[in-house]
Amino acid sequence: MTSRREFLERISAAALFTAGTARALSWALPVPALPALPQSQAVPVPGEDGMLLRSYRFVDLETPVEDFNSWLTPVPHFFVRNHMHEPVELDAHEWRLSVGGEVEKPLTLGLSDLAKLETHEVVNTLECAGNGRGFYRPQVPGVQWGRGAVSTARFSGPRMRDVLDRAGVKSSGKHVMFRGLDEVPGKVPPFIRSIPIEKALDGDTLIATHMNGRPLTKHHGFPARALTPGWVGSASCKWLTEIKVLETEFAGTFMNPGYRFPNQPVKPGEAVKAEDTHPLTALNVKSVISGPGDGSNLKIGKVRVHGAAWAGEADIAKVEISTDKGATWNPTKLGHEQEHYAWRLWSYDWNPTQSGEYALMSRATDTRDRVQPMTAEWNPSGYLYNAVDQVRVHVS
Ligand code: MTE
Repeated sequence: MTSRREFLERISAAALFTAGTARALSWALPVPALPALPQSQAVPVPGEDGMLLRSYRFVDLETPVEDFNSWLTPVPHFFVRNHMHEPVELDAHEWRLSVGGEVEKPLTLGLSDLAKLETHEVVNTLECAGNGRGFYRPQVPGVQWGRGAVSTARFSGPRMRDVLDRAGVKSSGKHVMFRGLDEVPGKVPPFIRSIPIEKALDGDTLIATHMNGRPLTKHHGFPARALTPGWVGSASCKWLTEIKVLETEFAGTFMNPGYRFPNQPVKPGEAVKAEDTHPLTALNVKSVISGPGDGSNLKIGKVRVHGAAWAGEADIAKVEISTDKGATWNPTKLGHEQEHYAWRLWSYDWNPTQSGEYALMSRATDTRDRVQPMTAEWNPSGYLYNAVDQVRVHVS
């Protein structure tokens, strides 16, 4: 097995080779191009080949958009987002989950106790709140994710509600806090967040032990994680070891100032006071083009434009494509694989008859009538980026 030190040395070395090359697209179109991001080199992370390295101090791996071609993301291609070091040693037999706080009967459960509870499955598109941060201008600090801090898997495990019911939530219990087993470096505050009791008791919120039918891997929270479907990824605590029912929202760095969004739109570049913000919950409506790739050279004739679209707690109603800078929009065909919290794959057969430079744009609409905007709402932490996606292609 590769030790964490070896692993970090390998990916640090790979990062040194990371070329800061921008996508060189010289032609001028009236539609502004998405800002070019530094191209992270695909690195040979053990078991996670082909992923894009966005940070190596704490492992952050982005899924290349070409991998959005399967409805369920194979686990080795599922993005990874860590705020801290992953736990070094985790013994499934010794692992325990404590359930306490505003409950009648505090519990301590092992994996075998969880296995005795009814298992529930949820296909969930997990997206990091910071996905697309790299496209915001002015730039904001934080991991400069491109399009791929999002993936979809079939998660399974007991319902969080069944565990909370066994503990007996008191009427004073309004929020549920999760603590993971991450190794907290130095004086950094631990990654602890809470969700409202209503979401914790929702029949689809899980203590997930499996992903795509196999036990969770370490990157994704082995042996158990919270799974808060449709919400920003940070609501799904990995390496879960403590569930605590609280009277109020957990007061900690990762709830405030972390993971909050301005109550009112702000001017790009402007600061926002904490009291004018609210915690992030569900994801935005969004689509991404996974092919053809940005900068592709295509031939006149049929071209299949394809990608994925998701909408958090809503469903996708339609995805449209524009090949004329947003003047007209054409319906795409939605894939047949469909579950409430999962993305929909889509495709559009485009028949360019003239050579030239084109911007292909995708726009999703959800069942709550939310439409993917031309410009995402800038915010100081760069969360929830969801502007109409675009790739530029050359047809000859
Ligand atoms: N849980 C713990 N304990 N520590 C973390 O750093 N990162 C969160 C969440 N759960 C995190 C965590 C964030 S920000 C995201 S987006 C998701 O995990 C990513 O899940 P994944 O790495 O399985 O894709």
